[in-house]
Amino acid sequence: MQILRTVAELRQWSRACRTRGQSVGLVPTMGALHAGHASLICAAAASCAQVAVSIFVNPTQFGPNEDYARYPRTFDADCALAASEGAAVVFAPPVEEIYPAGAATFVDVEGLSNRLDGQSRPGHFRGVATVVAKLFIAAEPDRAFFGQKDAAQVAVLRRMVTDLRLATELVVCTIVREPDGLALSSRNIYLSPAERTQALVLGRAVRQAESLVAQGERNSSAILAAAAATFAAVHEVRVDYIELVNWATLEPVETAAPGTLFAVAAHVGPTRLIDNTILG
Ligand code: PAJ
Repeated sequence: MQILRTVAELRQWSRACRTRGQSVGLVPTMGALHAGHASLICAAAASCAQVAVSIFVNPTQFGPNEDYARYPRTFDADCALAASEGAAVVFAPPVEEIYPAGAATFVDVEGLSNRLDGQSRPGHFRGVATVVAKLFIAAEPDRAFFGQKDAAQVAVLRRMVTDLRLATELVVCTIVREPDGLALSSRNIYLSPAERTQALVLGRAVRQAESLVAQGERNSSAILAAAAATFAAVHEVRVDYIELVNWATLEPVETAAPGTLFAVAAHVGPTRLIDNTILG
């Protein structure tokens, strides 16, 4: 597996693949790879002839008081995992390669970027859309793979691809969980053993919403109230949001319908975690 550090190298690699008639898959990540990321790389390798995994802790998607400096960086293990799942290259640029000195160009998906995580993390989705646009422009992938875990991110990126008429197809992969239901996240390593137990409330709220809907409940207020009560039982956990929204617009719905996104975010100690489900 090759490690590429510059946009020019990534572009050259990708163009060479397509010249040989090979499709290119891209899996954008911030590293600290786990089985959730592995599932994306595996899906990419199953549907694309060549796969690039980008590993870049993107400074513009972190707020001033967030964890950019201490975000876990495990490059050697990440490369081993990417290779074992079938990646041909890892793209790991230095910050100045993605943001040249004086960089002043950003991609802002208006409206959607202020919903869910964008509401509590101002500027977050502007940073995400900007870095993903830069990766797409560099790699020109046929398909790019994202996790439903970050469901609002998917909505923002779908809008961006439509608006910019990008040629990349977005593929969304299901959430990979621990056996006890905790959604895998690079931030789970921040959790103390007690917090790790408290964090299970997110998955519990998600399963509860799924089972209420399976039992025929459609009323948004009832589903949200049940989730709020589930969170209230774990008083150490501070809810950021509990929402039932249209997955495309991220606007709240009054009635849950197939495809409605139920999403939660909460602070467990100092760590902010998210989880969601697409209701059946
Ligand atoms: P990161 O948090 O590293 O996640 C990279 C990809 O892995 C995202 O598409 C995310 O949804 C997916 N992922 C994370 N946990 C998952 C899980 N438990 N199951 C399935 N997929 C999971 O998301 C980002 O990085 C960044 O915002 C990025 C898109 C790379 C832009 O910087």
